[in-house]
Amino acid sequence: MAPLLTVEGLRTTYTVGGREVTVVNGVDFQMERGKTFAIAGESGCGKTTLGLSIAQLLPSNARIRSGKIVFDGVDLLQMREDDFRRRIRWKKISMVFQGSMSAFNPVIRVGDQIVEAITHHETASKSAARERASKLFSAVGISENRLYSYPHELSGGMRERAMIAMALASSPDLVIADEPTTGLDVLVQAQIIGLLRKLRDDLGRSMILISHDLSVVAELADECAIMYAGRIVEMGSVRRIFGNPLHPYTMKLLGAFPGARLEKRITLVGIPGEPPSFLNPITGCRFNPRCEHAMEVCRREEPRLVEFERGHFVSCFWREETSGDNTR
Ligand SMILES: Nc1ncnc2c1ncn2[C@@H]1O[C@H](COP(=O)(O)OP(=O)(O)OP(=O)(O)O)[C@@H](O)[C@H]1O
Ligand SMILES: [Mg+2]
Repeated sequence: MAPLLTVEGLRTTYTVGGREVTVVNGVDFQMERGKTFAIAGESGCGKTTLGLSIAQLLPSNARIRSGKIVFDGVDLLQMREDDFRRRIRWKKISMVFQGSMSAFNPVIRVGDQIVEAITHHETASKSAARERASKLFSAVGISENRLYSYPHELSGGMRERAMIAMALASSPDLVIADEPTTGLDVLVQAQIIGLLRKLRDDLGRSMILISHDLSVVAELADECAIMYAGRIVEMGSVRRIFGNPLHPYTMKLLGAFPGARLEKRITLVGIPGEPPSFLNPITGCRFNPRCEHAMEVCRREEPRLVEFERGHFVSCFWREETSGDNTR
């Protein structure tokens, strides 16, 4: 079957103080229908920017400079903006924003915001939209009377659920969930994970899961891309990435060598050295100053993402060199 989404050579920049910096720098990946594709990596590596690029919800100082985003056979970057708004946004691709507090308008009741989202994108009557909002709330496990609450009256977990309900309002084909469990206590995190799993398993929803929490990725995702400084450095099935990480960065993230168990609770551990600044891009492999395997070539050239074993991609000269005949 054709992939639901293909991203090719995507490059997104921000202009700050008259200077344009590249934050997503040549990202390529594909995802299949009905699957959950995770994007993981340290804070600031460009995960949200990648998600916002796909949903076409970038802030005004951002530009997509090159690449393709082909969704269901259509290159979204070739579409007119009003066409995208009318046909794709929320109906086909929706987003659960990072930080549910700031995603809602604080002075409007959450129910009214969901009704507004439905009636804005579809020709539904207000009463039909309110009925749908009630159903969505019960689907995400919030009682209907909470529709009358203001955002600050909901707990963090409830707000996240309400955000997920809003993203599901028009039954989109693809939901991009940006850090849906971050900042919630462990018990509430588990409930949100359960809810997202239900969306995937019972409703067959396709999802891009953005998270810096690898245990969430391990629990929910089928495929995973590890990002470092605006690029994907490793990509493959969750089983392979967690069972046999290939990139030195992924190995550090998992805090162990091959064999890191999926069931183990793993959060990003501190990695010695500074994450790179986008203002002063590093020559060669961006991870080289923090990499204990860095070779001369790593300081000079940028490695390409290559298929190391079937369906498992890595961009690393050291891995290519040490793998002998395995490398393609
Ligand atoms: N509107 C903006 N203008 C300028 N720079 C921005 C803007 N938004 C993000 N950035 C910068 O782009 C880089 C990537 O940010 P992004 O939010 O995509 O990272 P992230 O991986 O989602 O991080 P986190 O895990 O903290 O959410 C960071 O250096 C950030 O400071
Ligand atoms: Mg983010």
